[in-house]
Amino acid sequence: MPHNDLPGRPFVARRDADLFLEDVRLADLAATHGTPLFAYSKASMLDALAAYQRGFAGRNARIHYAMKANSSLAVLQVFARAGCGFDIVSIGELRRVVAAGGDPATVIFSGVGKTRAEMREALSAGIGCFNVESTAELEVLHEVASAMGLRAPVSIRVNPNVDPQTHPYISTGLKGNKFGVAHEETVDAYRRAAALSGLRVVGIDCHIGSQITQESPYLDAMDKVLDLVAAIEAAGVPLHHIDFGGGLGIDYRGDTPPAADALWAKLLAKLDARGYGDRQLMIEPGRSLVGNAGVCVTEVLYLKPGEQKNFCIVDAAMNDLPRPAMYEAFHAIEPLRAVADDAGAARDAAVFDVVGPICESGDWIGRDRALGGVRAGDLLAVLSAGAYCMSMASNYNTRGRAAEVLVDGGQSHLVRERETPEDTFRHERLLPGA
Ligand code: LLP
Repeated sequence: MPHNDLPGRPFVARRDADLFLEDVRLADLAATHGTPLFAYSKASMLDALAAYQRGFAGRNARIHYAMKANSSLAVLQVFARAGCGFDIVSIGELRRVVAAGGDPATVIFSGVGKTRAEMREALSAGIGCFNVESTAELEVLHEVASAMGLRAPVSIRVNPNVDPQTHPYISTGLKGNKFGVAHEETVDAYRRAAALSGLRVVGIDCHIGSQITQESPYLDAMDKVLDLVAAIEAAGVPLHHIDFGGGLGIDYRGDTPPAADALWAKLLAKLDARGYGDRQLMIEPGRSLVGNAGVCVTEVLYLKPGEQKNFCIVDAAMNDLPRPAMYEAFHAIEPLRAVADDAGAARDAAVFDVVGPICESGDWIGRDRALGGVRAGDLLAVLSAGAYCMSMASNYNTRGRAAEVLVDGGQSHLVRERETPEDTFRHERLLPGA
């Protein structure tokens, strides 16, 4: 079996014919909770985190889980209990952190469009740092904090103009992207921040993109950030921490991103060589902590053979798994039960487009997939579905969002109930009159 058939191994593995997540048979979860169903392996998340923890052993460092990747409360609990802080991009995410028992002091607030109300609430909660993305935002944050008699802790997000060599929708550190303050304008922005009484400059940060599978963009970005640290400090503004963002890719389809500990050994060697090894370090990984910890289990509703295409219509759709429709992303798809009989083998040659019930041709989950002797009623697992799936799920076509289960060894916990159609219109109001 090629290496990429089961991304996430050994946490997703076949035992005899059946697919397991840790020690739980996925078919058993589907029988109990129905489909579509997301299941996450706690051990896989902690294993991914451990690679970063090894990379930073002995350093003054904090890992901020970028919760946009998967903001389910139980997932946040796992990372909060493991000592992580959080990277957030909305006040809603801060409220989730608090609901999951996380400490706002360990939270950094990124994003290009923070509102005054969000700033006020984050300041009242005692947030750790605002990653400010423009000079206009610096002025507004200063006003908001001053009016509250506070000084907002700030770091400026630098746009280093480095190509992360990833999908254009998920690169963020290029000149043409909306994120961060341009490299050339950064020193002036820091001078301004230091002069504003409502702000307290604490650090610098940069994040260049997502699903990065090469180490060179990180090394280039670090050089550029460290050049800036030197220039900013020469301008009289000391920086306490350096935040290198997230973005490390995962194996979806034989991708070979560097391991977090190996990557950080290289980055830390560079940091030390340039004399900044003593700074507080922060990072914001999302996908690499949760992506391969999750699977989405879906039932085959119909097979629809055709002249040009065979369709395998399943009960999960683009509202549950938006990445293929949005980025033409690849997710491996595995039958929950491998078919061993002769009839199955004979049908092996057929390839299917795996599609959902939503009324759009863009509603596809996988194209040209060999699914063995798949039949209606079979269960399939869409792999690498722990990141940017449930957190981007929608109610399109008035489909309730899927249920979620957290697997821990041989145990499983339902951590999100399946939404009913009524849940999806609970906040709507009818017009008055007859
Ligand atoms: N920090 C900042 C400021 C970010 O914007 C992001 C992701 C992260 C950290 C975490 O990046 P990660 O380690 O997860 O790559 N929906 C897209 C991915 C969007 C990423 C947005 N920013 C997808 O499904 O591929």
